[in-house]
Order: sequence, then structure tokens, then C-alpha cells
Amino acid sequence: MDYRNLGASNVKASVITYGAWAIGGTMWGGSDEADAIKAIHASIDAGVTSIDTAPIYGYGKSEELVARAIAGKRDQVQIFTKFGLRWDDSEGEYFFELNEGGKTTKIYRNARKKSIIAECEQSLKRLKTDHIDLYQCHWRDHTTELSETMEALAQLLKEGKILAAGVSNFTAEEIETSNKIVPIASDQPPYSMVLRDIEKDVLPFCIKNNIGVIVYSPLQRGLLTGKFKPDHKFAEGDHRASQPHFQPAYIKRVNEFLQNLKPYADKHNATTGNLVLAWTIHQPGITAALVGARDAAQASENARAADIKLSAAELAEIGKLVESLSLTPSTT
Ligand SMILES: NC(=O)c1ccc[n+]([C@@H]2O[C@H](COP(=O)([O-])OP(=O)(O)OC[C@H]3O[C@@H](n4cnc5c(N)ncnc54)[C@H](OP(=O)(O)O)[C@@H]3O)[C@@H](O)[C@H]2O)c1
Repeated sequence: MDYRNLGASNVKASVITYGAWAIGGTMWGGSDEADAIKAIHASIDAGVTSIDTAPIYGYGKSEELVARAIAGKRDQVQIFTKFGLRWDDSEGEYFFELNEGGKTTKIYRNARKKSIIAECEQSLKRLKTDHIDLYQCHWRDHTTELSETMEALAQLLKEGKILAAGVSNFTAEEIETSNKIVPIASDQPPYSMVLRDIEKDVLPFCIKNNIGVIVYSPLQRGLLTGKFKPDHKFAEGDHRASQPHFQPAYIKRVNEFLQNLKPYADKHNATTGNLVLAWTIHQPGITAALVGARDAAQASENARAADIKLSAAELAEIGKLVESLSLTPSTT
């Protein structure tokens, strides 16, 4: 496993970071708590030291599960959590509505100072810790000035409640503005072989300004493992069912593309999913890949991606295959 600093901060991330969204259950058709805890243990055993979570993942459940899994091991891990998505309050910018188990929940983006300070206390309690290693603004709240959001982060840094400040889903301009107020250690954008928008501006900006980039959904929510058949039936409440990347024609196309990657995976005695993750962490400017895993088997497999060293020639050949794949599912 390799470990890299988040930008200019002293906080390190393992190149494969455990992503704790799915284990929260919401939007993923539920989750198994015992399996989730075993997944985190397997990750730590395999050298993964950083864990990414958020209050919104299962409305607190993901953070609580992380706390249970790392009990007695707090000094071995870095906790990355977030603020700014509220389900328990209607202040800020309306984001979207979740309908699950017959219940409707409205989600608001709220990055006001008062809300951030209160959310931080809640996260510290749920995580059973006195500090958060990386505290990230989950989504920009357009009803709040960025300066107010960054002031809250500056205060939490000063108080030692957080060790580094980060953002997520921000544009390059928003990162630039934020970074002028408080040092931004990292951005957390989506990035995978089939979703490479950040290569246009966010990634070049972060490289130029020494800001870490920890990317989410690098397996495109499981699609890039190649395990999905075009007629896959998702569990009730699994958001993937309605996503463009999981429509039958696109799944078929991606599976054909993954067949072309298989010889490279075979050469490294790896699964195709592992090769996809290895490619991701070899891309310039990518600090770490945040990878979700439901159970110990998935978690151990994903951690092995960190040991794959791809040569410049392999990267160039794989890069050509990636370029040949249509990036927009709607065009298939
Ligand atoms: N900041 C944001 O807005 C944002 C948004 C999304 C995600 N994230 C972060 O990024 C993390 C990772 O993203 P993600 O969970 O969306 O997507 P991902 O890592 O691309 O995919 C994770 C899912 O793929 C499946 N999977 C993983 N490893 C596998 C393996 N070895 N074999 C077979 N299937 C496997 C599992 O689901 P199944 O078993 O159900 O198929 C797992 O939950 C999240 O946990 C979260 O921490 C942040």
C-alpha cells in the first residue's frame, strides 16, 4: 500500500481509501452491519488507513459503523468525513428528495457557519473521536457565501477539531476561492474510466496548486468490476437502477470494453476491477481512490489494487482503450 499526503497538509491517505457510503444503506437498497464492520477490518488488515464517510450516509449510520469498526484502532486510521447535507433541517439550498421505505426525506445543502459547527460536534460524537482528520464540504451551498463556509473550517482547524479542510464536488473556480481563505488539502470529485470530466479543469488546477484529489466512485459504483449483466435487477431502493451508467445498452458496452482490459489484469494476476483501480491511482494528480465495499471479500480484493505497478507502456495502451470508450451513456 502507498500513502500520500493530501496536498500541502500533513494528513495522509492510503491510495486505496475505504468508502463508507453503501454501508449506510440509504440509496443502496440497505446494508448488512456485520459485513460492513468486517469490510472495514479487512481493509485495515490490508493496509488501508483512511476511511471516507459522511453524516448523510444512512443519516448517521455510516459514521456510527465506522466508529464501531475502528474502536481501539483510532490511531491507525485517518477519518475523512463531511458536512453540508442536512436531512433534519430545511435551511439552505434544496437539493433533492429521497423516497425510501415509504418515507420521504428532503435533503438540503447547508454550508452556513452555525450549521457546520453544530454538524462537526455531531460527527465527533458519532465517530467517538476528538478530531476529524479531513473535514470536507460535501456539496457547495449556493445560498451561502463561500467565505462563510471557509471561516467555519478555519475556526475548526484552529480549535484542533479538524486536521485538514477539504471540499467535494467543487468547480476549479470554487476551489480557488476557498483556497484563498483557508488552505484546502483536497477536493473529492467523481472520477472513473467512464467519467473523466475533471481532466478538463479541476485536475489541472489541483496539480498546479498542490491540492490533493481523492476521487469517488472509481469503480463507477461496481459497474467496472464487470459483474453486472445488462438485465440486472437491483434491490429495492438501490439508486443504481435509474442511473444512465446502469442501463442495459451501456452495461453491455462497458462489459465489452472490460474484456479488452482483461489481458492486462491477467498479466498482473489481478481482477479487472483491480486493474481499473490501479489505472485510477496511476493517473497524474490523483492522490487516492475512494472505493466502497460491502464485505470483507470486496474490501480485501480492492486493497490489492495498490500493489499493481503499471508500466508507462501499459498505461499508454490502456489509455487508448479508455479513450475509445464512449463517455456518455446516453449516446449508446
Ligand atoms: N462526495 C460525494 O459526493 C461522493 C459521492 C459518491 C461516493 N463518495 C465516496 O466515494 C466512495 C466510493 O464510491 P461509491 O461507493 O459510490 O462507488 P464505487 O467505489 O465505485 O463502488 C462501490 C460498490 O461497488 C461494489 N463493489 C466494490 N468492490 C467490489 C468488488 N471487489 N467486487 C464486486 N463488487 C464490488 C459494491 O456494491 P455492490 O456489492 O452492491 O455491487 C460497492 O458498494 C463512497 O463510499 C463515498 O465514501 C462520495
